Amino acid sequence: MGRLLTRMQIQRLVAKHGHDVFEHEHMQIERCCYQHGNITTFAHSIRVACLAVWMADRAHLWHRVDVRSLIRAALLHDYFLYDWHDWDNGEHRWHGFTHGHAALMNALKDFDLNAIERDSIEKHMFPMTPIPPRHIEGYLVTLADKISATRETFSMGRFHKKALPTKPLRAALQARRSRHEGSRAGERL
Ligand SMILES: [Fe+2]
Ligand SMILES: [Fe+2]
Repeated sequence: MGRLLTRMQIQRLVAKHGHDVFEHEHMQIERCCYQHGNITTFAHSIRVACLAVWMADRAHLWHRVDVRSLIRAALLHDYFLYDWHDWDNGEHRWHGFTHGHAALMNALKDFDLNAIERDSIEKHMFPMTPIPPRHIEGYLVTLADKISATRETFSMGRFHKKALPTKPLRAALQARRSRHEGSRAGERL
């Protein structure tokens, strides 16, 4: 990559390398969950991917960064597939510490991931979780995530947060996913 990427070029790269992630049925659960402020997990993941590519580009890191791995790790870094704001008998109390691993486990069921993608997803909460990423792509994802999360959490949009009209759809998608998981587990027995 020669000249600095424009916003449109970055969006095209994310679409090119992430189209199968966007289109996966389980990714639609992310459209039905708030992440920070009034931003869904789906929108947050796209923002993180675009920002991570922008940072790699502006820091002239393309000789060291695999753009496809970077984008896919960013898109899947929060693939935990529930709304962490929902009170669930305290089950998500440790969300900040556990969701990187949960995202990786879910993503492995739905996508082929390379070592860079796997490590970057699982360790994206560093330094909240103690083990640092092994690859530069992982550091870009974790930094882009923190910048995006801070912006989203303190955006004015948080004052206009509405109940997502897609909650019933989320429940239906989650139920279908559970059934699918159950039948796959049955096949393995
Ligand atoms: Fe996260
Ligand atoms: Fe995130």
